[in-house]
Amino acid sequence: MALWGGRFSQMVDQKFKSFNDSLRFDYRLAEQDIIGSVAWSRALVTVGILSELEQQQLAHALNLLLEEVRAAPEAILASDAEDIHSWVEQRLIEKVGNLGKKLHTGRSRNDQVATDLKLWCKIQIANLLSALRQLQQVLVLTAQANKDVIMPGYTHLQRAQPVTFAHWCLAYNEMLSRDESRLQDTLKRLDVSPLGAGALAGTAYAIDREQLAGWLGFATTTRNSLDSVSDRDHVLELLSDAAIGMIHLSRFAEDLIFFNTGEAGFIELSDRVTSGSSLMPQKKNPDALELIRGKCGRVQGALIGMMMTLKGLPLAYNKDMQEDKAGLFDALDTWLDCMHIAALVLDDIQLKRSRCCEAAQQGYANATELADYLVARGIPFREAHHIVGKAVVEAIRQKLPLEALTLAQLQTFSPVIGDDVYSILTLTSCLAQRNVKGGVAPNQVSQAIIDAKQRLMI
Ligand code: ARG
Repeated sequence: MALWGGRFSQMVDQKFKSFNDSLRFDYRLAEQDIIGSVAWSRALVTVGILSELEQQQLAHALNLLLEEVRAAPEAILASDAEDIHSWVEQRLIEKVGNLGKKLHTGRSRNDQVATDLKLWCKIQIANLLSALRQLQQVLVLTAQANKDVIMPGYTHLQRAQPVTFAHWCLAYNEMLSRDESRLQDTLKRLDVSPLGAGALAGTAYAIDREQLAGWLGFATTTRNSLDSVSDRDHVLELLSDAAIGMIHLSRFAEDLIFFNTGEAGFIELSDRVTSGSSLMPQKKNPDALELIRGKCGRVQGALIGMMMTLKGLPLAYNKDMQEDKAGLFDALDTWLDCMHIAALVLDDIQLKRSRCCEAAQQGYANATELADYLVARGIPFREAHHIVGKAVVEAIRQKLPLEALTLAQLQTFSPVIGDDVYSILTLTSCLAQRNVKGGVAPNQVSQAIIDAKQRLMI
C-alpha cells in the first residue's frame, strides 16, 4: 500500500508509477533510512508520542530489518514500494503491526531523504578517502622504487627537460592530496543534520534537534528548515570533487597510455590489466587505462546534469530533486572504481629504464643547461637563448646531440664556451641543477618522498 492513498480515489497509472518510483536506485539508502528511523523513534519518546517500551519494540524490529538489508540489499528490489522510505515503513508494519504506523509522526520524507542521503555521503566519503590514500601510497612507493629512472619531461608533448619517474609519480600524488582535502572540506559543510525540518517548515513536535543530530553522528544541525529540505549543495560539491578527481585520473591514464606506446616504450603494463585484440595477435591494449580516461566523461556529465536539475528550482522540496541520486551514486562508484584500478595498474608496472634514459638524452632536453652555462659566463639570458637556438639547429643538421659537437664547433656560437661545458650537458647534471624545493634534483625528490611518506604514514 502506498503511504499516501487517503486523498485519492483513482488507481495510479502503472506507467506513472514506474516513472515516479525511486526504489530501483534509492534502495541503496536502506541502511541510512533504518538508522535514521531508529534515531527518530528515540526523539518521539522525548515528546511523548512513543513509550519507552514501544520505542524498544520499534528499534528491535528496525535492527532486525537492518541485518536483513545488510545480508541481501538487492532483495529490496523485488518490492513494488514507491521508494526506500515507504519500503522501510511497510516492512516495519509487517513486523510490528499498528505500532509501526506511529513512526512517521512529525517526520516528512523531505527531511528524511535529505538526512539519509547525507548519511550515505558521509560513508561514501570515508570510502573515497581510503581509496585516495591507497592510490597515493602506491604512487609514493613506486616513486621510491624508481628514484633513479631518468625520463624526458614534456611540455606541449615535446621533450622539454629531463625528469625522473619518481618526480612524475609525486606530481600525481600532489593532485590526489588536493582531492583528499577537497573531500574533507565537503565533509565539513555536509556534516549538518536536516532531520526535524519536517516537510519544509519544521516539525510540530518539540524535539531536541541537536540531540537527534548527535545520535546520528552529525556535527550539528541545519539552521533553516526551508533550506534543510531543499539543499543539495553537498551533492554538487561531491560531484565536483569527483569530476576534478576523475580529470586527474584521466591525465594519469593518458600519460601512462603514452608511455606504453611502441613509440615511447618507457613502460610495459602487466598482462593482468591489459587485453588482446580479436584480430591482431601482437596487440596488448591498455584497456584499464583507456576506461579510466573514458569514464571521466560520465562523471563530468553527472555534475552538469545535477547543476541543471537544481537551477531555478523554487524553495523548498520539489520532486526534481529525486534526480540527485542516480547521477551521484554512479559518479562516486565510478571514481572509487577508477582509483582502485589505477592503483592496480601502477602497482604492476614495469619500467624500461634504459629506454627512458635514452629518450631523455634525445630531443635536446639539455639545451636550457647550455643557456644557463652562458648566463654564468656573463651573457644575458635572452641572448644566451638565441645562441643555443642556433647551436641546436646546427646539431639537428648534423643529426647529433648537443654534447656530441666538438668544442671548436660549440665555440663558433660563443667564444666563452670552454671544455667544462660537457659536464653540465649530462643528464645527471641537468637533474642536479634543479635543486630547489619541488625541483627534480635527486636530493629534493628524496626529501619529497620522505615528506609524502610521513603525510601518508607509511
Ligand atoms: N523519493 C523521494 C526523493 O528521492 C523522496 C522524497 C519524496 N518526497 C515527497 N514529498 N514526495 O526525493
